[in-house]
Amino acid sequence: MSLRLSGKVALVTGGGQGFGASICKKLAEEGAKVVIMDLNEKTGQSVASEIPGSTFLRGDVTSQTDWEKALDTAVSTYGKLDIVVNNAGILIVKLATDHTEEDYDRLWRINVKGIFHSAKIIVPYFQKQGGGVFVNTSSVGEIRPRAEGVWYAATKAGVNTATKALAREWGKYQIRFNCVAPTIADTGMYQIILQANGNKDSADTRESMVKNIPLGRFCSTRDVANAVCFLASDEASFITGVQLAVDGGLTI
Ligand SMILES: NC(=O)c1ccc[n+]([C@@H]2O[C@H](COP(=O)([O-])OP(=O)(O)OC[C@H]3O[C@@H](n4cnc5c(N)ncnc54)[C@H](O)[C@@H]3O)[C@@H](O)[C@H]2O)c1
Repeated sequence: MSLRLSGKVALVTGGGQGFGASICKKLAEEGAKVVIMDLNEKTGQSVASEIPGSTFLRGDVTSQTDWEKALDTAVSTYGKLDIVVNNAGILIVKLATDHTEEDYDRLWRINVKGIFHSAKIIVPYFQKQGGGVFVNTSSVGEIRPRAEGVWYAATKAGVNTATKALAREWGKYQIRFNCVAPTIADTGMYQIILQANGNKDSADTRESMVKNIPLGRFCSTRDVANAVCFLASDEASFITGVQLAVDGGLTI
């Protein structure tokens, strides 16, 4: 039986932990060769050590040079690149008026400008290759914005709109762009939310966070990895420009 991503080469940003680590593992289980790109060398190397045949690259999504290195790494190591998962992102939890200008700029640099660089460097390569796939990471925080996440939500709206617009612009070259919009998951971001609200992780805190989710639980990193895998695979070859909510029904 052939695997869903046999023969494919994928690059995953923010692959060192959280959703990114799970995405790397899922894509590799489905047959892809994976380049793991993360700022954090220790966690990135650790994920790479769990995935035979994968490659870790210390890289910053805000640097165009690092994107050039990432493409070179994929091509020199595996001969090509087929899939880019723009997963790296940051969350800042504060009142809109408490964000510093640097907070605001960091959110946009990492969450949106990272995708700008990915398109600038990888789209021309995909165009020559005859196609390729991007899966970007938005958030339900964009669809249902919450207090203390105003500028984060704005960046994720940027991710969603850029994804749709890129899908329209590059479809004729068989380059697909989709995004996933997860709800709350137990990753580094949950810790940031807990710290910002002065909460401890407890059954009560978790219950309050899932009370509006019809399926009644947190998103798992595997839920997101499964959705990314589908969108990246040829099973989704006629799907472009969608935002797939991975949210247990929260945004119904
Ligand atoms: N966890 C949630 O509840 C949740 C919900 C909705 C959307 N998201 C989105 O999912 C994505 C992943 O989130 P997570 O929860 O796994 O986060 P996380 O904080 O657990 O992991 C993020 C990873 O990205 C890396 N990273 C950060 N800045 C980087 C940069 N400039 N260049 C390269 N790597 C960088 C970090 O080192 C880390 O390994 C983000 O885009 C986030 O906005 C998360």
